[in-house]
Amino acid sequence: MLKAAVIGVGSMGRNHARVYRELEGVELVGVADQNGPTAAKVGATFAAPHYTDYQQLVEDCKPDLVTLAVPTVLHYEVACDLIERGIHVMVEKPITSTLEEGEKLVELARRKGVILAVGHIERFNPAIMERRRRLREGMAGRIYKIHAQRLSPYPARIRDAGVVIDLASHDIDLLRYLMDEPITRLYGETLKSINSDREDMFNGLIRFKGGAVGVLDVNWITPTKIRAMTVTGARGMFRCDLLSQELFFYENETAPSQWDVLSTLRGVSEGNVLGIRINRHEPLAAELGDFVGAVRDNRAPTVTGEEGLETLRIALEFVRSGKDIEVIEPEREFA
Ligand SMILES: NC(=O)c1ccc[n+]([C@@H]2O[C@H](COP(=O)([O-])OP(=O)(O)OC[C@H]3O[C@@H](n4cnc5c(N)ncnc54)[C@H](O)[C@@H]3O)[C@@H](O)[C@H]2O)c1
Repeated sequence: MLKAAVIGVGSMGRNHARVYRELEGVELVGVADQNGPTAAKVGATFAAPHYTDYQQLVEDCKPDLVTLAVPTVLHYEVACDLIERGIHVMVEKPITSTLEEGEKLVELARRKGVILAVGHIERFNPAIMERRRRLREGMAGRIYKIHAQRLSPYPARIRDAGVVIDLASHDIDLLRYLMDEPITRLYGETLKSINSDREDMFNGLIRFKGGAVGVLDVNWITPTKIRAMTVTGARGMFRCDLLSQELFFYENETAPSQWDVLSTLRGVSEGNVLGIRINRHEPLAAELGDFVGAVRDNRAPTVTGEEGLETLRIALEFVRSGKDIEVIEPEREFA
C-alpha cells in the first residue's frame, strides 16, 4: 500500500482526496488545509485524519506521495519542502507562479530522485486520449489548425493568477501534447475587463514548426462554460467537447488518399460525420492512477515537471506578448 495525502483541500484538492480513497493499492493517510473547518469537513467525509498544519501531517502520517492543491503562489514553497523530505509530489497546475521557481523545483526533484507530476488533467480526458490516438494514426492527415476554446464565468476564488496562467495553461499543454512539435512563434492579445491587475480575456496564436497554426480563445467573461477543441487536417476535422467527452470527425470528401498522410489539400467538401465512441472515465482518476503507477514503477509520469515548466514558459511569454504587444520568436524554440 502506498500512503497518500492531500495538502490544500479546497475546491480541487477535495477531489484528489476522494479519488485517492478509491484507488487500489493506495491509502489516504491524511488531509491538510490551513482552514480548520475545511480540513475537518474533508477529513470527516473521507475518514482521514485532518490537519491545519501540513508539516504536522507529514510528520505524523509519513506519506509516500502527496497532491499539492494549495493556491498557485504557494506551490513552490510547499513542494520544495515535500521534495526535500523525499516525498513524491503531484502539484496542481500551473507548476509554479514563476519560471525561476519552476526551474528550481524541477532541478530539486531531479536531484532528490523524487517524482514530480503536474496536474494537467485534460491529457487524461478520454475524448482527448482517443483523438490523440487517431491523430497519431493519421486519420485527419496533415494537420493545418488546432483551435481551443475555454470560456467561463468569472471565478472569484482565483486571486493569484490571470486567465492565461490559470486557465489557458490547460490548452497550451494540450496543444503541445497533441501536436508534439516545437513552437517557433507566438502572439497573444489580452484584456483586463473585470480586474485591473490581471488579464481575464486572452486570444493567442501559435505557429508550430511543421507549419500548423494553434488558436487559443480563453476567458473568464462568458456567462456559460465552454470547453471545445477542433483539429483541422487535410482529411477532415475532429471536434471535441471536453465537458461531455464527445468526439466527432467530419470527413473531407475531397480528401487525399488514406495512405498519403502528408499530402496537401486538393479541395474541401462536406463528407460523412462520424460520432466516435468514447470509453468514458473520470480524468482525475486516470491522472492519479498514472501518478501512483509512476511512483510504484519508478518511471516518469505522463506530465513531468519539465513538461509543466515548458507550458508555464509559454504561458508567461503569452502574458508578455499581450503586455508589450510583441510577436515572440524565441531563440530556443518552445518544446
Ligand atoms: N487541474 C484543474 O483542472 C484545476 C482546477 C481548479 C484548480 N486547480 C489548481 O489547484 C490549486 C488550488 O485551486 P483551488 O481552486 O482548489 O483553490 P481553493 O482556494 O478552492 O483551495 C485551496 C485551498 O488551499 C488551502 N491552503 C492555502 N494555504 C495553505 C497552506 N499553507 N497549507 C494548507 N492549505 C492551504 C486553502 O485554505 C484552500 O482551502 C491551484 O493551483 C489551481 O490552479 C486545478
